[in-house]
Amino acid sequence: MLFWFMCCLMAVWTISASDAESCSEIPAVDNSISVSKEDGEQILRTYLCIRGYHLVGEKTIFCNASKGWNATSPQCQWGHCPDPFLENGKFSVLQPVDVNDTVTFKCNEDYILKGSSWSRCLENHTWVPPFPICKSRNCNSPENITHGYFEGVDFTSGSTITYYCEEGYCLVGTQSQQCIDGDWSSALPVCEVIQEATKLTAQEQFEKEFLAFQETEDLRQTIENIMQKFKKHNLTMEEIKYSLEIMKAKAKMLKAKMLP
Ligand SMILES: *[C@@H]1O[C@H](CO)[C@@H](O)[C@H](O)[C@H]1NC(C)=O
Ligand SMILES: *[C@@H]1O[C@H](CO)[C@@H](O)[C@H](O)[C@H]1NC(C)=O
Ligand SMILES: *[C@@H]1O[C@H](CO)[C@@H](O)[C@H](O)[C@H]1NC(C)=O
Ligand SMILES: *[C@@H]1O[C@H](CO)[C@@H](O)[C@H](O)[C@H]1NC(C)=O
Ligand SMILES: *[C@@H]1O[C@H](CO)[C@@H](O)[C@H](O)[C@H]1NC(C)=O
Ligand SMILES: *[C@@H]1O[C@H](CO)[C@@H](O)[C@H](O)[C@H]1NC(C)=O
Repeated sequence: MLFWFMCCLMAVWTISASDAESCSEIPAVDNSISVSKEDGEQILRTYLCIRGYHLVGEKTIFCNASKGWNATSPQCQWGHCPDPFLENGKFSVLQPVDVNDTVTFKCNEDYILKGSSWSRCLENHTWVPPFPICKSRNCNSPENITHGYFEGVDFTSGSTITYYCEEGYCLVGTQSQQCIDGDWSSALPVCEVIQEATKLTAQEQFEKEFLAFQETEDLRQTIENIMQKFKKHNLTMEEIKYSLEIMKAKAKMLKAKMLP
């Protein structure tokens, strides 16, 4: 308390000693303690509310001799910490809030609580832990994907949507997504172009060879042929893997088309 008193004395003295005319009118705030810092013709003024009151507005305001104060002074309002709030939920009401008071939170039906279900008003006028939010259990409308689309109109909790790609593209990632407590269950899939005509000629060759392999009985001979083709076209393991992925996707598409 003595410290604050000294500060105030200092503050009053500094300001009256300064010749900053437009800064001479120090905005007073009820139920507060304030400290001023002078730097040439500028004054910084910081307000702290006393116990049982909390600050609303700017904690620190600034005065420029030729322009005056940059904001109106704050206010100290009844209640040691700001009033609790929770959208789409309820909290135990305590008014006025005092130091060490605890508030508990509960969400309305169809909302889930994210964060702490309680909070406490500390000496420094803040609530710790911070207030939670109530999140809807239902999902936002799903995002579109480039060269693809989704099917499904129900976005409530537990429902499922399915992604498809346009002709000529294959889906990489998870095809179906479920709405689980407000979030879709996995990352969006992507639609990748199936072929790049110029780049993949060697891979097309490989695919042909692979299809031939599926039809032939002579396993050893076919494997040898394939290995030779790899060498001839200098295909890397990455490119071979890529080709296999594309064939897998094609086979999947075929299978999907055959299903009713
Ligand atoms: C006024 O100045 C203070 C100190 O520089 C700054 O913290 C505050 O954000 C300013 N307020 C406005 C409304 O510009
Ligand atoms: C006060 O404001 C004037 C006008 O914008 C500016 O020219 C001057 O530099 C400011 N003074 C200080 C000390 O910030
Ligand atoms: C608040 O609680 C703390 C720790 O439990 C205690 O040290 C402090 O004295 C309490 N403050 C008041 C104003 O009751
Ligand atoms: C208030 O005090 C708590 C606990 O000491 C601390 O975690 C928090 O950062 C403080 N808040 C402010 C704004 O100083
Ligand atoms: C997704 O695409 C559909 C149909 O093309 C459109 O109606 C909808 O607004 C799009 N949604 C977003 C989030 O872009
Ligand atoms: C394959 O690579 C070898 C050496 O790494 C090179 O000499 C040859 O020309 C390449 N063949 C093709 C078809 O790119």
